[in-house]
Amino acid sequence: MKIAVLPGDGIGTEIVAEAVKVLKALDLKFEMETAPVGGAAYEAAGHPLPESTLKLAKEADAILFGAVGDWKYDTLDRPLRPEQAILGLRKALGLFANFRPAICYEQLTHASSLKPELVAGLDILIIRELTGDIYFGQPRGRRTAVDGHFPGAEEAFDTMRYSRPEIERIARVAFEAARKRGKKVTSVDKANVLETFQFWKDVVTEVHKDYQDVELEHMYVDNAAMQLVKKPKAFDVIVTGNMFGDILSDEASMLTGSIGMLPSASLNDKKQGLYEPSHGSAPDIAGKGVANPLATILSAAMMLRFSLNQGEAAARIEAAVQKVLAQGLRTPDIYSEGTTKVGTAQMGDAVVKALG
Ligand code: NAD
Ligand code: IPM
Ligand code: MN
Repeated sequence: MKIAVLPGDGIGTEIVAEAVKVLKALDLKFEMETAPVGGAAYEAAGHPLPESTLKLAKEADAILFGAVGDWKYDTLDRPLRPEQAILGLRKALGLFANFRPAICYEQLTHASSLKPELVAGLDILIIRELTGDIYFGQPRGRRTAVDGHFPGAEEAFDTMRYSRPEIERIARVAFEAARKRGKKVTSVDKANVLETFQFWKDVVTEVHKDYQDVELEHMYVDNAAMQLVKKPKAFDVIVTGNMFGDILSDEASMLTGSIGMLPSASLNDKKQGLYEPSHGSAPDIAGKGVANPLATILSAAMMLRFSLNQGEAAARIEAAVQKVLAQGLRTPDIYSEGTTKVGTAQMGDAVVKALG
């Protein structure tokens, strides 16, 4: 088994180092190979996703990814920006199904910005379609407007689109996942305004005929954003498009205490997967040794379970994370009075120790 390790930029290197530490402590037989990605790869090789990194990712059984991006690259031509590396990997590997589980661990009910009783016991799963939507639709670009409010003016445009097979396969993923848990799917759309999402709603409704044991509810994205903070535990599985899923998953991360707690798995139809925290490279805290590595460590656990057939080892990591939280150890993002503040490496060390 081979794991491609792509730390990337900013806190990416710090948090991936801790996840690698935990993986090594498991004493399982796998090979890990590290390669540059994002801004780091742009500096080293002139491209955010060099051929050699892409090749390694394609050959690996699984990819452990940190984060990419930094403000200093925001003026580069788009194809050279760090973010193109993660978008390029998702596209090249066909990683269309993004799982973002938002679980509020008992010990962190007071770390959330919401009232503890709203988040206690929270366990919802956001399934975000990851290779379509306005993120990848063509055409896009800048041009001179020929109509609209200001004909003749400079304008920019993107294309929102979804094909039937793209919606069908992500809907199936969501219904299958719901079958194994709360048996409810909330499909989030904007069908009241957008043609793309009326189609989304229609196709999800059709696919639902094969899953009558699962309850299907439709919700507009604006209402979903509100319900997520009003009554988050009313959700079980949320399925939505690429852009809405991006936004709602950051929102849902605060229900768990911090974005530093939200892992993710991006899978294709061959069970190959890329595992990364849902957050970014956090340039504001990079290099300070304070980033929360738990989202990345929990992503490594998802990797063991989904791509490497090591469910037991995954459960060991998850139990170890709960144990360090029970010991009261907290990085600053999840700190609350009466707990002990630790840095990134101390947190990683504590998880290793808690593995037993
Ligand atoms: P971000 O997720 O990097 O940070 C948002 C806020 O959350 C910051 O205040 C940050 O300090 C905090 N934060 C994030 N992760 C944390 C952690 N593990 N522990 C503690 N605090 C944490 O989002 P942003 O600031 O909007 O973006 C920064 C850069 O990251 C941009 O270049 C963006 O494009 C990129 N980005 C990359 C990915 C990815 O690689 N998949 C994801 C999101 C953003
Ligand atoms: C994420 C990130 C990415 C996205 C960016 C960095 C391209 O925000 O993984 O959530 O928008 O998908
Ligand atoms: Mn995001």
